[in-house]
Amino acid sequence: MEDTAKESTNRRGNGRRRGNRLSWILVVALGVLVLIVVSAISGCSSKPPAQLVEEQCVGCHALTILESSRKSPEDWEATVTRMVEIGAKLNEQQAEGVIAYLSETYGVDGP
Ligand code: HEC
Repeated sequence: MEDTAKESTNRRGNGRRRGNRLSWILVVALGVLVLIVVSAISGCSSKPPAQLVEEQCVGCHALTILESSRKSPEDWEATVTRMVEIGAKLNEQQAEGVIAYLSETYGVDGP
């Protein structure tokens, strides 16, 4: 009877130790995941606007749509805002960069 009691104590002890190791693995995995997410987010926002345009604006139409456009910064802002509303994936900061880039490259004065 005493043996059984001791054995079950041992088993519980082992179980607890295994539980500790498992939670450490979870903590480390979570840390790695957070690092990946943070670096992905900061990587995105530091992309140059020209690259963002190439990635985000060709999904629905060719970039020639830009080349045949000449717009003032206000008009580019309106266009980019509309494109973001219908599906271009740009955060606020990226959109600002793209608007500035387009205004300069496809502005009313022309390059
Ligand atoms: C979800 C699909 C989609 C994405 C992504 C998209 N567009 Fe468009 N775009 C359209 C559609 C549909 C039209 C035509 C209808 C319209 O003008 O709203 C259009 C029209 C345009 C026009 C011509 C009309 C105008 O207002 O001068 C320009 C310029 C333009 N897009 C620029 C962009 C830029 C820059 C991006 C990237 C930031 C982009 N688009 C991303 C769907 C998209």
